[in-house]
Amino acid sequence: MCGIIGYCGQHRASEILIEGLKRLEYRGYDSAGLCLVENNNLVCYKRVGPVAHLEEAVARQDLGGHVGIAHTRWATHGIPSEVNAHPHFDCHHQIAIVHNGIIENYQALKELLISEGHIFSSETDSEVLAHLIEKFYKGSLEEAVTKALALVEGSYGLVALHASENKLVAARRSSPLIIGVGQDEIFIASDVPAILNHTKDVVYLQDGDLAIIDSKGYQIKNLAGKLLDRQVEEVKLSMEQIEKKGYKHFMLKEIFEQPQSLANVLAGRITDNQIKLSLNWHREVIQRIIIAACGTSWHSALIGKYLLEEIVGLPVEVDYASEFRYRHPLVSSHDLFIAISQSGETADTLAALREARSRGAQSLGIVNVVGSTVAREVDSGIYLHAGPEIGVASTKAFTAQITALLLLALYWRHEAGYEIDKKILNELRHLPTVAEKTLEANSQVIELAQRFMNFENFLYLGRGLNFPVALEGALKLKEISYIHAEGYPAAEIKHGPIALVDENMPVVVLATKNDLSDKTLSNIQEIKARGGQVIAIVDQDYEPVKKLADYLIKVPVVHVWLSPIINVIPLQLLAYYIADAKGLDVDRPRNLAKSVTVE
Ligand code: G6P
Repeated sequence: MCGIIGYCGQHRASEILIEGLKRLEYRGYDSAGLCLVENNNLVCYKRVGPVAHLEEAVARQDLGGHVGIAHTRWATHGIPSEVNAHPHFDCHHQIAIVHNGIIENYQALKELLISEGHIFSSETDSEVLAHLIEKFYKGSLEEAVTKALALVEGSYGLVALHASENKLVAARRSSPLIIGVGQDEIFIASDVPAILNHTKDVVYLQDGDLAIIDSKGYQIKNLAGKLLDRQVEEVKLSMEQIEKKGYKHFMLKEIFEQPQSLANVLAGRITDNQIKLSLNWHREVIQRIIIAACGTSWHSALIGKYLLEEIVGLPVEVDYASEFRYRHPLVSSHDLFIAISQSGETADTLAALREARSRGAQSLGIVNVVGSTVAREVDSGIYLHAGPEIGVASTKAFTAQITALLLLALYWRHEAGYEIDKKILNELRHLPTVAEKTLEANSQVIELAQRFMNFENFLYLGRGLNFPVALEGALKLKEISYIHAEGYPAAEIKHGPIALVDENMPVVVLATKNDLSDKTLSNIQEIKARGGQVIAIVDQDYEPVKKLADYLIKVPVVHVWLSPIINVIPLQLLAYYIADAKGLDVDRPRNLAKSVTVE
């Protein structure tokens, strides 16, 4: 939530900042702004809406500054407006800050500062940082930021500058920041894509770090002023991976990348008769598994429960990370806590992980973004290697997460001394090809999307492993098309939702053949009896479903453990094409952001 970039170097900062902001838009896009140092003055532009609006405003100017900061906002405190857009300033327009996070004690600080004569312009919590730094400024930005942060409660990725110091001072607590190290230029940003066009050498700041940056280099200290040594790491990401490559939206590109992302998560992890993972854990002491996550990752967690309980035979509890952290959970050293997160930065997931670890649990992360905070804080991890996911609605990370959970379950089973069925290993090896085949439903889904784009409500139904897939299908539709949709375990509709079923309620049913198919068939019958329209996801010519359903989407036949991975693909496509047919901005759905670094 909120993207930050800062630059100190030899080039025109404005171009680098705008380019970087565009790559950070997935973190928020309700307003954007930048501030440059020019001849000891601060020059600032802000615009409401996407970064393109700011770009247009800046393009008309001849901006020469070589030091600057910029921000793309996801509103928490205060409506999206130019006044609330970052950067924020002190009273004398000498200090500018950009901030990602929430200052929890901002009301008290604001009152204090107002009583001391400071005048505020915005409704944001962030503005207090600029005034607080002003309060302590006596000629050294570094010193003023350090003193200001000592009074601050909450989370921050912060970058500050002063009109008469050609440097940036950045600090991190719970919101990500990286330093990019170039030749006579240094960058600071919320995430790697923002600077990838300029350098692959990055330093990941850690909580409590303060960075002092100028064009020649940087220093990292803790808030007590002690110099810290942080490693420069080379990121393995290419520009190609973060481009749309001819697709209309990142989301569509990412849906179509699934054969490759599945191949990546499997690569090197399947041998002739077992699964290879390198986990640093004491498996023998684990008596229970707790999985916590948010959003789409929470849906994978639910699928993980089915897989782990059936394959490993240990009880699994799944929690919303936001609930887990505040409910005084009973956790012990006999628990394994699994955090699932695409970004590895979701504030609630991170807090839940810290809570579980502090209560003695072993921890494991299933994470996509290499070097992210969750990845760094867990005892063991499984990286998804799905490549950057930029579309706000998660797609390829979801299928990779389920695959990783299945690998974990099989690995664990083998470690416990059981043989793994060759058939499932073989199916896993062929999963990318099967995903490719599933994508052939594309043109059929486009037609369905045209037919259903104007409906206002949808139901999604599934059983067993495919119940969370129903939740995910509904979430995808809600997120990007703003159509109300709900997912339910198929049998549950009798207990309420069936009251809503009529000819205006399309019902998407996951009806692939398994032990529960006959039961699902009865549910389809119940919907048809009430005039509902059924879109069934099927995997073979199952005559009874064929007869009853109004529309069929055929997917390849796979082992039931793999069915969520395959069945979700047409649901992702359906949501995408409905949103696109409605002319919506699929990659930037209203009110959402990809990386939710505030609670
Ligand atoms: C946001 C995104 C979702 C994502 C969720 C959890 O809500 O819009 O797509 O599933 O955060 O994110 P994580 O990075 O922890 O998987």
